[in-house]
Amino acid sequence: NYYAIIMAGGIGSRFWPISRTSYPKQFIDILGTGKTLIQNTYSRFLKICPPENIYIVTNENYADLVKEQLPGIQNHQILTEPVMRNTAPCVAYGSYKIESMNEDAIVVVAPSDHLILDEQAFVDSINNSLKTAAEHDCLITLGIKPSRPDTGYGYIQYTDQLLNNDFHKVKTFTEKPTLEIAKSFLQSGDFLWNAGIFVWSAKSIVKAFGKHLPDMHDIFADARSVYNSDKERSHINTAYQQCINISIDYGIMEKAENVYVLPSEFGWSDLGTWTSVYQLAEKDYVGNAVIPSEKVIMYDSSNCMVNVPEDKLVVLQGLHDFIVVEANNTLMICPRDQEQSVKQIVADVKQKFGTK
Ligand code: GDD
Ligand code: MG
Repeated sequence: NYYAIIMAGGIGSRFWPISRTSYPKQFIDILGTGKTLIQNTYSRFLKICPPENIYIVTNENYADLVKEQLPGIQNHQILTEPVMRNTAPCVAYGSYKIESMNEDAIVVVAPSDHLILDEQAFVDSINNSLKTAAEHDCLITLGIKPSRPDTGYGYIQYTDQLLNNDFHKVKTFTEKPTLEIAKSFLQSGDFLWNAGIFVWSAKSIVKAFGKHLPDMHDIFADARSVYNSDKERSHINTAYQQCINISIDYGIMEKAENVYVLPSEFGWSDLGTWTSVYQLAEKDYVGNAVIPSEKVIMYDSSNCMVNVPEDKLVVLQGLHDFIVVEANNTLMICPRDQEQSVKQIVADVKQKFGTK
């Protein structure tokens, strides 16, 4: 009865020029490990549920990329979205479809673009959560000990009220707080980051949609009779036009009262910035992380993050603490401590040249 929904329809612009609208981060081997992030995500879930129970929800523009990168996935396991409406409709589509096939399904929902270093610890946490979700009407999220007041995460305030020994009742869930509030959360010490990985029974999440996003509930519940028929495509296309754009975090997690968190440690990173990639990538003795390294020659250079095409001969002399990235005939060179400007750069490039 265990199922997985992998959310793979987002566009991360921070890894430009490598990731772009036509080729987002989940489809990239950002650490140079030989596998893309979605391939690693998929193989983690193969250790948790049968392959036929793994569903990928993605934009229709990425369906071919998913097929190419995950040859083990059948066409009907790729749920395509006609437009981007953030993660609430994505979760609803996957969950209601699974529920229509198996109303006792227990589901883990996960992003496609995260790094998890300790796979065994991850598998243990998920299995523990699936077991608890099968026994209780609750929404489980995995929590990570925060290390900085990052405003890009959800913050979970937990209590000491326990369920099945390990799961803490959540007091408040705050998605993407302001810096000031994030700082106060960190100081107080009883907050965790939301890893964006959720576990629940299909019944519980359907109930939560009914309560907190009733319009969206109706849209996907109405589709129950067409899932897995040739009417599904056109019905879903219309359904998405009617959906509001909202994430599962704002739409459900902030509002629900039966949320539990499992404090987890499995070497998690959402690889949100080049700096986070740099920190995790293999580095030489002077701190250069070079992907791939064969044709890059560096003299008197240190602490650089270099990611260039395999066949490109690159020579760097006297360069310290820089990001050097080339992809898609675009070269970007930027000091490591100024990478927050990438978002603006992407916006400017798009405006000027109409491409990203
Ligand atoms: N199918 C589909 N459709 N997938 C989507 C869409 C969509 O419209 N939008 C985003 N996704 C996918 C992304 O590809 C990613 O794998 C996942 O859903 C999460 O979306 P993000 O856009 O990366 O969310 P976030 O990073 O801002 O915030 C979430 O993750 C944080 C941890 O990394 C939240 O859950 C936060 O609370 C959490 O702390
Ligand atoms: Mg993310």
